Amino acid sequence: MRFLSFEGLDGAGKSTLIASLKAELERRSISVRVTREPGGTPLAEEIRSLILRNSESHLETPEPFTEVLLYEASRAQHVAKVIRPALALGEWVLCDRYSESTVAFQCFARGLQRSEVDRLNRFAEQGVRPELVVLLDLSVDASRRRQNRRVEESSASSRDRIEEEADDFHERVRQGFLSQSKEEPDRWLVLDAEQSVEELIRLTMAELGRRGWLKAKA
Ligand code: TMP
Repeated sequence: MRFLSFEGLDGAGKSTLIASLKAELERRSISVRVTREPGGTPLAEEIRSLILRNSESHLETPEPFTEVLLYEASRAQHVAKVIRPALALGEWVLCDRYSESTVAFQCFARGLQRSEVDRLNRFAEQGVRPELVVLLDLSVDASRRRQNRRVEESSASSRDRIEEEADDFHERVRQGFLSQSKEEPDRWLVLDAEQSVEELIRLTMAELGRRGWLKAKA
């Protein structure tokens, strides 16, 4: 069993990479659980919709301290109900975002204190941390272009509350990811998100192989 998380700006291509990686791993008879944060359980998905309601809802906006606690509440439920049980069954867990997003968004971009957020992350994780964090690094401009395309293509989807934030917020998020990857280089795989999905899969599989994770069912 292995726990991998995937990080990056909105539109970086995390879901596409996760879906292709799942297929690739399953071809090797590895059983894979794909999940996401915030969300991943019915209660955590409800918390997700509370967090992401955009300005069109005209409802109260959470304060930064409230916002971080909502992300942590979603995480605590998700770890207990999905991630830990899946790992206990020997499955690989591929998680779209995890605590490293909280550091990038709530510390680097929103301005909360790192030591406090680290403490909340450890509390919600209950010892369950990804062994490898795959960062799909993308410029804010490219992220916006991809988001605009998505909004234009689908009449149903509009920007969520976080996507509505200004470009400098997202630039701090990007730098927050890159900075964490430098703190723990052995735990992070940083990939240029502008590459093709085939190339991204090839590089990710090469990293898993280099770590000796593909030889036998772990
Ligand atoms: P998603 O759109 O990638 O599913 O993620 C939802 C949004 O929530 C995204 O803009 C990133 C943000 N986020 C945080 O601000 N803090 C967190 O801890 C997590 C997991 C996500």
